[in-house]
This record gives sequence, C-alpha cells and structure tokens, in this order.
Amino acid sequence: MNVLLVGSGGREHALAWKISQSAALTRLYTAPGNPGTATLGHNLPIDATDLAGLLAAIHQHAIDLVVVGPEAALAAGLVDACQAAGVLAFGPTAAAAQIESSKAFAKTVMQAAGVPTANAFSFDDPQQAAAFVRERGQIWVVKVDGLAGGKGVIVPESLEQTLAAVAQLGSTSAGTRLLLEQKLSGPEVSVIALCDGERLWAFPPAQDHKRLLDGDRGPNTGGMGAFAPSPLVDRALLNEIVTTTMAPVVRELARRGIPFRGALFAGIMLTEAGPSVLEFNARFGDPETQALMPLTEGDLLLALHECAQGKLRPDLLHWREGAAACIVLAAAGYPEAPRTGDMISGIAGVQDGGVVFQAGTALHDGQLHTAGGRVLGVVGAGPTPAGAIELAYTAAAPISFDGMHYRTDIGRTREKTA
Ligand code: AMP
Ligand code: GLY
Repeated sequence: MNVLLVGSGGREHALAWKISQSAALTRLYTAPGNPGTATLGHNLPIDATDLAGLLAAIHQHAIDLVVVGPEAALAAGLVDACQAAGVLAFGPTAAAAQIESSKAFAKTVMQAAGVPTANAFSFDDPQQAAAFVRERGQIWVVKVDGLAGGKGVIVPESLEQTLAAVAQLGSTSAGTRLLLEQKLSGPEVSVIALCDGERLWAFPPAQDHKRLLDGDRGPNTGGMGAFAPSPLVDRALLNEIVTTTMAPVVRELARRGIPFRGALFAGIMLTEAGPSVLEFNARFGDPETQALMPLTEGDLLLALHECAQGKLRPDLLHWREGAAACIVLAAAGYPEAPRTGDMISGIAGVQDGGVVFQAGTALHDGQLHTAGGRVLGVVGAGPTPAGAIELAYTAAAPISFDGMHYRTDIGRTREKTA
C-alpha cells in the first residue's frame, strides 16, 4: 500500500513511525513532513492545506490511503476532495470535522445527543456577550467559535478578567463569534478513538500537560508533554466516557447525514458530577499521539485503512502493558515568540528504549536546527509509570540546543483548572 501522511508535527512523526512498521506498507510519503518523517519515507514539499498540490501528488505516486493529521487540512476539505477523486482517506469530511472547527456546532450536537458538557451561550456580537456577562454578574470561560490554533480559549478568575477576555477574543478578527461557557473544575484527560462512522476503538486514556511550567503553572501551550495511560481513568471509567460522550455524538452526526470517520478526540474534565466534555477534536492529539504509538501493538496502517472504509477492526490493535511518557523539548521564547535556527545536538546519543519524535526541526547543511516552538518529543515506554518517566528523561538528557526548556514533572502532576 502506498500511503500519503499529511502534516509536519510530532504527531505525524509518531504516526509515520508506527505506520512504517506495517507489513502492508509499500511506500510512505509525508507532506510536508519534517526531518524525522524523512528518515521513514519520502517528504513532499506540499502544504497540508494545498488541496490541488496534494491531489496531484496522490495521482503521481499512486496513493492508496491518505492519512490526515492536522485539523486545518480537514476543515479545508481534504477528505472531501479525496472522496471526490475516488481516493481512500482516513479522517472526517469538513462537515463532520465541524465537531472541532466550530465550537457552536459542537455544543449543538452535544446538546442534541444528551452529552454531559458545560452550558454555553453563543454571541455573534462581542458587545452583546459583554452585556450578558455584566447582567449575569458571574465568571464565564470565553471561547472563539472557530479554529484558533489553541489560542481561542481564556479561563478567567474574575468578572473583570471575563470582560477583558471578551474584549480580547472579540477583537481577534471581524465578526468573531464568541461562546460563554460555564466554568467547570477537575483534572483533564484526553480520550482518542478510531471511529468508522458508527463504532469506536479507544486508545489508552492520556494526560496532556498544557501549562508551560512545572506544577501546572504559567501560560497554556500546545502541550508540554503527555502521559498514558492516565492513572485517573480505569477501564470502567473509560467505558463510561466512550458510551456517554463519544458514542452519542457519533450517532448524532450519523443521524444528520455526516458520519464521522477518523480519529475522534474527546477532551474530558473529570468533574465531581462525572466526566464532562470540554471539546472534541476531529484528529489525533499532539503530543498525546507520541505517547500512544509506542503503547499500541498491532498494525496501525491496516486499522486505519479498514476504518476509513467504514469497517472498524478492533482485533487489529491492542494496548501494550505498561506506560509511556512524552517530554516536549521547547524552543527559546515558546509559547509567545519561539526562536528558530538554534543548532540541535545529542540526538544520536539517545539510548535504546527512548524514541525521539521531531516536530519543529529543519535541516541546514545536514545539521538539525530548531524551526518551531515545540522542537522534539522524547518518549519513554516501560512496564511501570515510574520506569517510563525515567526512561523518557534519561533519553532526553544528551539532547541540547540554545534556549531549550521542558517540564520536569511530566506524568507526575494532575493537570487541574481551579
Ligand atoms: P478547549 O480548547 O475548549 O479544550 O479549552 C482549552 C482549555 O481551557 C482546556 O483544556 C481547559 O483547561 C480549559 N477549559 C475549557 N473549557 C473549560 C470549562 N468549561 N471550564 C473550565 N476550564 C475549561
Ligand atoms: N493535545 C491537545 C490537542 O492535540 O489538541
């Protein structure tokens, strides 16, 4: 099978790593990929949202399956374009991907499906949102409706901060639609499942570490590390999350004639009243995927291929015993203004047992340099949680670049929002 993987982050390097282990693989192409994916296949210099360029490459390289990583490509209609061209693609159509690309749509679907989630009110005009906040006199989580690259949510601590958040997010772009959402509290967990439009197969529940600094302090980031399986979610709770939050949404999307095929990601808060959905994503998580791939046994490529055809085969994949931790090594200035161009050394010194997934990297004259905020994800997998964490930090130890920073407590804290 010839495969085109679309995307260029750590998530895509991890997917490429797992896909390249499949006996069913003939050639793996990644567009645009990164220096990590180039070691596993062929990178094609085509942007993830350049649909015409991707379709041309799909025909030129006789691609049998397209695997879509990033949400922007899904929202741009890459899967729809593949379907129209008669090419099999793993990922939802743009209509089904609205479960991520429009928070207002996601809320409507969740409410229709009876899924536990915070109450929310939608406003086309930020002035009206501000008036509503003053009238109710309480704190609300403020969210931008559309895709905002992880920058579209503010969790205020006071009424004043709520009003400031409405003003800030309301001025992001003309006609910004805002959501005001009831503020929940509890630890968070990411549940990612393959979905064939009807059935679901869940990967181990994972914990993301969104805050920049140890102890869950500092600003939110795209994710400073991940750990799986989350000690907060046993099999019974995972089953509850899948059956009370994910399955009803999958049924509701199918009922609306826009079945969801792809990786469905539920961002769950474990509140005192039970699991509640913070968001759905229409794709694999980053950096969760980097921790999940080494914990997944079986043929991922075949599983994605069958799933994309609406024939989920749960027998193709299993959870490996044990745990995995992913430490993100970030660039100077991340997340506000990451610096690029710093030389990376020490990757060759990483010991057996550790896996390095590249994200924001580039080769200049044969030498690896930083090229983005989250530069590398170093993963350790082992029989025990403590062993996995230790392996990941030991593997990261030889790696360095100017301004490199990372959290030292991945897998050891429980992310909480007060
Ligand atoms: P989202 O992109 O919707 O997942 O939001 C990003 C982060 O904001 C989440 O991971 C939570 O930490 C926080 N958050 C989102 N919604 C809520 C909520 N209703 N109550 C409390 N925190 C929230
Ligand atoms: N790690 C969260 C996400 O991929 O959105």
